[in-house]
Amino acid sequence: MAKQEDQFKKVLSHAKEYGYVFQSSEIYDGLSAVYDYAQNGVELKKNIRDYWWKAMVQMHENIVGIDAAILMHPTTWKASGHVDAFNDPLIDNKDSKKRYRADVLVEDYCAKIEAKIDKEVAKAAKRFGAAFNKEEFVSTNGRVLGYQEKIDAVLSRLAKSLENEDLADVKALIEELGISDPLTGSKNWTEVKQFNLMFGTKLGASADTAMDLYLRPETAQGIFVNFLNVQKTGRMKIPFGIAQTGKAFRNEIVARQFIFRMREFEQMEMQFFVKPGTQKEWYEQWKETRLKWHLSLGMGADNYRFHDHEKLAHYADAAADIEFKFPFGFKELEGIHSRTDFDLKAHEEFSGKKLQYFDHEDNQNYTPYVVETSIGLDRMFLAVFSNSLQEEALENGTTRTVLKLPAVLAPTKAAILPLVKKDGLPEVARKIVDDLKWDFAVSYDEKDAVGRRYRRQDAAGTPFCITVDHDTLEDHMVTIRHRDTMEQKRVAISELRNIINQEVNVKAWLQKM
Ligand code: GAP
Repeated sequence: MAKQEDQFKKVLSHAKEYGYVFQSSEIYDGLSAVYDYAQNGVELKKNIRDYWWKAMVQMHENIVGIDAAILMHPTTWKASGHVDAFNDPLIDNKDSKKRYRADVLVEDYCAKIEAKIDKEVAKAAKRFGAAFNKEEFVSTNGRVLGYQEKIDAVLSRLAKSLENEDLADVKALIEELGISDPLTGSKNWTEVKQFNLMFGTKLGASADTAMDLYLRPETAQGIFVNFLNVQKTGRMKIPFGIAQTGKAFRNEIVARQFIFRMREFEQMEMQFFVKPGTQKEWYEQWKETRLKWHLSLGMGADNYRFHDHEKLAHYADAAADIEFKFPFGFKELEGIHSRTDFDLKAHEEFSGKKLQYFDHEDNQNYTPYVVETSIGLDRMFLAVFSNSLQEEALENGTTRTVLKLPAVLAPTKAAILPLVKKDGLPEVARKIVDDLKWDFAVSYDEKDAVGRRYRRQDAAGTPFCITVDHDTLEDHMVTIRHRDTMEQKRVAISELRNIINQEVNVKAWLQKM
């Protein structure tokens, strides 16, 4: 646990030091769970968004994008169920006066048991060496099975109590498990209460005529209310999808873990409209497709797992999370939800407008079912960033900090470095920058010794450094250094575009799907 916390602290400080993420309004001591993306962060975020958009929209003939407004008619949220049911169960500690999500306290308790399982696995792996079979071990070892049984029993009771709105039982569970305030150790808890997560605001100038609005808590509803507009104007045939990226807002009770859980964040969502009865097939297909998208980035298959929901949201008939191994353990990164016809039917009812599809093949009208894929862009950013940050022991006894971002996502693809700031080398380096910047995000760096510049670019996540030296003036060759291998090669300036392109081009990465 301490090791995990150390790693997470490193992620936070590195994100600030290298211009990725800043606390919002930092000069006023910040605003809790709200963050700003800095000069490198904004590029990484944009590259992740583009990678998603290309895979989801450009590569699918039957998926189109929209950009709906953040502010929507307030009835939208009545119809979607958010006014009545978008709640988190909260509990206060009477001694520390700190507020927690009751379900998160229980989940954290289970995560601790899970850490014990990991420990047993690591011990056994060491003992058995190459002959170790993890799957067999976890399905036969008595201690591991006992831990797993406990986790399953606790989570299933939690799911049942939440499903039945039995908040007294959630509190009883917390007490029975002996869960204490993580900050103070106190077990003096209040009752569990529901808390609505939507941020309210007002439209209009005068107090009596102003209309109460909400900042959207998910982008999905902007898609549902535009379903028929897009279907008709785009002449879309079922099955088809509508994708959108954009901000969402939630007044989260537990605002911690950096950009994992924010009050203002960005979602990348796609609603796939299908014929009723086919939703299960599409649900399975989208689970598989989305996992492949993640795996294409090469961040390690072991770092992902599916978690099938026991407690389903009010709109779903099946739901799963793709969980990622963050520095604080496996947590939800993306949700895939089979949302039935709940949303379209509800908007039909509340708006009085028909939201149906006429199927020419079957010659019938129906309300389509929906399979949704929904991923938090900031959460994806954290997954990529934390997974990429590594400390490497070098042969000469030193260590280097390197941000091994997937090259396709790196904010800067290459840094061009004149060996010295004189003798015409800066001019050649600038010329290379001017040439390459048409195709890639590149930067120029002439400050400090070249070794220090390499380390700086490693830590910033730049896949290539290109050094111009005195020989370049004669032979038009430069040294290209690879961030991950630190290998250096002498290549012609005219070859640079090809070499960089091979590693950063989106097509090559997405073709791994
Ligand atoms: N339209 C469905 C929906 O919004 P969700 O599971 O509540 O489902 C989807 O959210 C994704 O949005 C999550 O998997 C997560 O990646 C991201 N997300 C949700 N709340 C977030 C928050 N407070 N901060 C950052 N990302 C969040």
